[in-house]
Amino acid sequence: MDSIVVRGNGPLKGQIPIAGAKNACLTLMPATILSEEPLTLTNAPRLSDIKTMTTLLQSLGAEVTSLQDGKVQAMSSHNLDNHVADYDIVRKMRASNLVLGPMLARLGHAVVSLPGGCAIGARPMDLHIYGLEKLGAEIELKDGYLHAKAPGGLKGAEMELAFASVGATENILMAATLAKGTTVIRNAAREPEIVDLADCLRAMGAQIEGDGTSEIVVQGVDRLHGATHQVVTDRIELGTFMLAPAFCGGEVELLGGRMDLVQSFAEKLDLAGIDVTETKAGLKVARRSDRVKAVDVTTEPFPGFPTDLQAQFMALMCIAEGTSVLEEKIFENRFMHAPELIRMGASIEVHGGTATVHGVEQLKGARVMATDLRASVSLILAGMAAEGETVVSRVYHLDRGYERIEDKLGAVGAHIERVKDQ
Ligand code: EPZ
Repeated sequence: MDSIVVRGNGPLKGQIPIAGAKNACLTLMPATILSEEPLTLTNAPRLSDIKTMTTLLQSLGAEVTSLQDGKVQAMSSHNLDNHVADYDIVRKMRASNLVLGPMLARLGHAVVSLPGGCAIGARPMDLHIYGLEKLGAEIELKDGYLHAKAPGGLKGAEMELAFASVGATENILMAATLAKGTTVIRNAAREPEIVDLADCLRAMGAQIEGDGTSEIVVQGVDRLHGATHQVVTDRIELGTFMLAPAFCGGEVELLGGRMDLVQSFAEKLDLAGIDVTETKAGLKVARRSDRVKAVDVTTEPFPGFPTDLQAQFMALMCIAEGTSVLEEKIFENRFMHAPELIRMGASIEVHGGTATVHGVEQLKGARVMATDLRASVSLILAGMAAEGETVVSRVYHLDRGYERIEDKLGAVGAHIERVKDQ
């Protein structure tokens, strides 16, 4: 297993290219199931989660070819010969449950393992099931698997999600493209990854309106055709690297960065004393003074403050001037990074979904452990502002969502290296 060693850093300088979005690619790849014709994704991120989705699709009989060093995924679901998404794959990556809607719509049946809980929360699928049953599917849980069928095909319907779930919106949206009639999804998720999925489905011949708003309308069609689609920029990788100069000083340009993807986040950075400006190539970020200011945040569905940037922002608040209050409203157990930051000398109190952070002058390097994807990167950022050496273990979490982070941060001057555990 690998660990990453980070040493406290001086100011950063240079450019970091931002990859395609993991959370868009993980819903775009299952869309290949909806058509017999090839779907090609460009600007795909090179991550272990994408490899897991490839293994899953291949286990269903899809052809998935990774080209151009993994930046292009060429897929075809002409010969699907298996409709069971196995537990051994699904338990590695929850997003595997995004094959349920497409398989139901294309094949009329699907058996998908329930993913079970994860480090950050229980993460049930009741909203996915609610929406697909509204479209006429019959779904029952047997031996840890969801057995779903729609013998007569899916039928369009009106529904309202109790919570604007990203995954449920994606599963229902994909299924509705081949359902007979009109589907209306109210209180739908508005994340940019949903808009990217809708753009791809439209390129395949789907009729969709309202994506990006909380009411999506889909006119079902008989079949979808092939297409080529460019994956949207990863706003979470973007947000993560926007914070790097806030920890160490200096100035960094994020190539491919878009302000509309990180507006609410950029507003909080401005309050903390960090300038974010648009450039021809992306976004430029620099700290206004030697010390950032404490700012309160509450995580919300898009366009609110993203939960996937909460851990990274908490790490910054650990060295801010003053006290900040962070409220995590999306996941019930997403402060696992706090005890690790405390090992580095941070002052944090956690009560349920609220964390109070008293900023300290300086963090101290330590051996710390990654517990999930975003928690792991928050420890790396904290290590870049700490005195001495920080060793982050279990970085396999990190590789699920960040392409060779040590190369990207090293290129702008960070003291960071990957080492094999002894
Ligand atoms: C997506 O997860 C992302 N993952 C997550 O990113 C992200 O944190 C999350 O959206 C919120 O933005 C992918 O896109 C692959 P949800 P998803 O359904 O779809 C509850 C990362 O770090 N809920 O919007 O699973 C659920 O338990 C990952 O890249 C139900 O109760 O998120 C959670 O508390 C982590 N019933 C909340 O809603 C349901 O049927 C949000 O979940 C579905 C969800």
